[in-house]
Amino acid sequence: MAQLWGGRFSKETDQLVYDFNASITYDKRFLKQDVRGSIAHVTMLASVDIISNDEKDLIIKTLNEIVEDVESGKLEITTTYEDVHSFVEANLIDRIGDTGKKLHTGRSRNDQVALDMRLYIRDEITELRDDLKELMKVVNNLMKENVDTVMPGFTHMQKAQPVTFAHHMGAYFEMFKRDRDRLSDIFDRMNYCPLGSGALAGTTYPLDRELTARLLSFKGPTMNSMDSVSDRDYLIELLSALSTVMMHLSRFSEEIITWNSNEYQFIELDDSYSTGSSIMPQKKNPDIAELVRGKTGRVYGALMTMLTVMKGIPLAYNKDIQEDKEMTFDAIDTVKGCIVLFTGMISTMKINKVRMKDSAAGGFTNATDAADYLVNHGVAFRDAHGIIGRLVLRCIELGVSLDKLPLEEYKSISPVFEEDIYKAISIEECVARRNTIGAPGPESMKDIIAKNDEYLAAN
Ligand code: ARG
Repeated sequence: MAQLWGGRFSKETDQLVYDFNASITYDKRFLKQDVRGSIAHVTMLASVDIISNDEKDLIIKTLNEIVEDVESGKLEITTTYEDVHSFVEANLIDRIGDTGKKLHTGRSRNDQVALDMRLYIRDEITELRDDLKELMKVVNNLMKENVDTVMPGFTHMQKAQPVTFAHHMGAYFEMFKRDRDRLSDIFDRMNYCPLGSGALAGTTYPLDRELTARLLSFKGPTMNSMDSVSDRDYLIELLSALSTVMMHLSRFSEEIITWNSNEYQFIELDDSYSTGSSIMPQKKNPDIAELVRGKTGRVYGALMTMLTVMKGIPLAYNKDIQEDKEMTFDAIDTVKGCIVLFTGMISTMKINKVRMKDSAAGGFTNATDAADYLVNHGVAFRDAHGIIGRLVLRCIELGVSLDKLPLEEYKSISPVFEEDIYKAISIEECVARRNTIGAPGPESMKDIIAKNDEYLAAN
């Protein structure tokens, strides 16, 4: 047991207590952030003459060597240390003795861990945004390739009106764009430096908190030392944003699974992204999409955990807050993994354009357009709705689609119909005419795709 705080104790910590209390097995992830924070801290201490420049240089050099030794495998982070902060400080003191003992001047593990977590989350947000961007590029490419790929749009899982596959993909582009923006918002709001807050009440040393914040690329220092050591709002925001990413990926997965099913066959997942069955030789299963859908629950769990951990904590730091780490790390790792796998899966899937179009043609998705035809010929919409309803019923009796129903049948229900009804309800026409902003028509889609390209180039 290597602890930083034995002085006022007359007995050794019970081993079970030590293990229960320790966080080294998971906060060892913070090694780089912890050292980066310490380097900024001693640089600031030297600038206000609390330590000498030589001491600062020696500490920085040795801290960097510790990281190198861990990375090369020479030095192992073991459970003899309570947490990563103790590991770094103990090793520093081992190597340079009394000078190492000055590192922790004007600092507490409370503001130190608050800093490490923020540095770590900033890096992770950057990676998450990059991963989402790769996914959005693939989605936008699918849009480019499928401006003319007509498919049924659904409401209530019933065929509703024809759209295109580009349009359907465009909906996900918008969702992921909001997800990325949410991550930037969180980054901006949490981008303040807690170091220098001490245990809870600041310090009596003349610390230059502005300098520390600048050295670590924060917008500035945090403004209340009690809040600084106990605020984890940004983790709740992050886990909420990540839950929303997963919710989107889960909806998308659900559609992939449906489209890949034997009944739909709108798409076919690549062999490299599918799995087989140990008993049924014919099976090719969409396990990746199912796992993404399943892992959504795990990320929601992390959000609920964090909300619950924080809800009873009086100011300022309490050890409960140590529980902020494992679930948050797990959620971030899970989301990153899911985004990358999902990107690979949809960039390799085959789009079955014929099946999609046949499905759109067979499901009365042009019924609204047939009603619009009547409206354009002077019939009131409500009457037109009734007339087309009767025609659909007739089609069902005869087992045909609207475009195959003979003109006499049309005329027997309303004399307004003429030969040009067939053009008006051709599936391609129905899509091509929908060109309001955000609609599936090709003109409108091309504008959106150009905007997506601009967004991907600029952000
Ligand atoms: N391992 C602790 C955590 O993750 C570091 C802070 C410890 N502070 C303390 N007062 N015991 O929160």
